[in-house]
Amino acid sequence: MRLDVVSIFPEYLAPLDLSLIGKARRDGLLDLAVHDLRDFAHDRHRTVDDTPYGGGAGMVMKPGPWAEALDHVVTQGRSRDNSAVDAVPTLIIPGPGGEPFTQQIARELADEPWLAFACGRYEGIDERVYEWAGERMPVRVLSLGDYVLNGGEVAVLAMVEAIARLLPGVIGNAESLIEESHEDGLLEYPVYTKPAEWDGRAVPEVLLGGNHQAIAKWRHEQRIQRTAARRPDLLPPAAATGGLAELEER
Ligand code: ADE
Repeated sequence: MRLDVVSIFPEYLAPLDLSLIGKARRDGLLDLAVHDLRDFAHDRHRTVDDTPYGGGAGMVMKPGPWAEALDHVVTQGRSRDNSAVDAVPTLIIPGPGGEPFTQQIARELADEPWLAFACGRYEGIDERVYEWAGERMPVRVLSLGDYVLNGGEVAVLAMVEAIARLLPGVIGNAESLIEESHEDGLLEYPVYTKPAEWDGRAVPEVLLGGNHQAIAKWRHEQRIQRTAARRPDLLPPAAATGGLAELEER
């Protein structure tokens, strides 16, 4: 998979050299390039923002540098390997006003050959950039959650990690992907390791015996109880209002 990230803080993306994502890059599973938006601003101060039309607080990112940067991403990406002359990335623009980024969306994006990320800062990017980009490539505006970050960089770190770990070969133990929170709409069950007693707290008895059926049943019940307690919005309406027994039968 090819990934391009455009930001005014390229160093913010340095963690993508670390851990499993860094290894995936070194193994050639991920081809990731980070671009400095200021390289596409041509005045002496490399200006990428200006005051908002209509007034209001803060600054807005200018359209010109964004269009040049995205043009560069597309042309450079096409020449990077022998991809089709008309290939385009799916452009992700993180922002608090976007569609919620979910595991389902991470799975959809993990199937794409090429993603580009545009990191906004300040009060956002001039709206015409969304239109301009939408005429050239698929565009998705995605939010990490209902809170406001200072810019898209942290959101890109989170999204790239969520997407890249789904690619074949990135996670050594692919089985660990199967029983995770959000993979099937329920949260993960609690886990324990040695010692069997610590700080006067015992590991649940059922996990110490080798009865795999009983363990699977206990884990399933734990997932439902935990989801009901922490994320009732994930459960079907009947289960969330108390009808857990039926779900636990499954
Ligand atoms: N940029 C600023 N806030 C954000 C959020 N909640 N999600 C994604 N990108 C953002």
